[in-house]
Amino acid sequence: MTPQTADALNSEFAIPGVLRAESGPGGLTVLRVTNALAEATVALHGAHVLSYTPAGATDLLWLSRMSHFAPGQPIRGGIPICWPWFGAHPSESGFPNHGFARLLPWTLLAAEGEPDGPTHLVLELRDSDATRAWWPAAFSLTLALTVGAELRLELMMLNAGRSPVSITAALHTYFHVGDIGSTRVIGLDGCPYLDTVGGANRRHTQSGDVTFTREVDRIYQDASPAVTIEAPALNRRIHVAKAGSRSTVVWNPWIAKAARMPDFGDDEYRDMLCVETANARDDRVTLAPGASHVTAQILTLR
Ligand code: BG6
Repeated sequence: MTPQTADALNSEFAIPGVLRAESGPGGLTVLRVTNALAEATVALHGAHVLSYTPAGATDLLWLSRMSHFAPGQPIRGGIPICWPWFGAHPSESGFPNHGFARLLPWTLLAAEGEPDGPTHLVLELRDSDATRAWWPAAFSLTLALTVGAELRLELMMLNAGRSPVSITAALHTYFHVGDIGSTRVIGLDGCPYLDTVGGANRRHTQSGDVTFTREVDRIYQDASPAVTIEAPALNRRIHVAKAGSRSTVVWNPWIAKAARMPDFGDDEYRDMLCVETANARDDRVTLAPGASHVTAQILTLR
């Protein structure tokens, strides 16, 4: 499918002073949103939110200086959409990690907003020859995005085919935390989790806040609907609320894994933390023909 060009997007969707499409990093088409409440940048590639800056603040999101920005490649940072499988494909080792939604151009369907209020965007990915090569199902995946005093993402997955489908997914948000050593995640005390560092699946129960002194890669199961990231180095607390998701993934690669990833700077693990609104492992979404499910994430600077 041919991606929409910035010119075509501007002639149909531009909102003076609020929304413009332009050529962004690597020549990828991006949507620049500016209103009285916040600014954001969204790539059509993956419907990927690259930045979100509430008025008077700095970017809540983290983006690697080493990221690829190219068709068919994942972007390292911002908010990747992992869909229709989270992590490795269950049987095909050659298929892309975290599915294909983050590798393909999406289509902007609608945009509205006034300069002094929130801006609403709707982007869509439908099945195509490219997606059917990895996953035979017919689907519509839409991201409804609201850029305002909070950032709201609502990912709606619709089974447009004639057989049931089973999906795992994540809104894989990378937060800018400044200093991982002093960062904590509040709200998961008592929650069971799978520790997946090194490909293992060790079962534990969280005790107190989540803190970081080494690689952390955990799937919290039946996780509370909201957590708070406390990042004292940036003097900030970010409230991460969610719906339609029972799993919360917390990930920081630490030193060795950062060094192994070509699109991740060796020292960048210090600056970032992923807290992901997920449907992972047993928390699968099964959709009958015609059925849909919404997984939502709402970010608020406190
Ligand atoms: C996280 C996983 O969600 O994503 C990690 O829990 C993984 O195990 C990370 O390393 C990044 O994945 P990718 O495919 O973007 O390198």
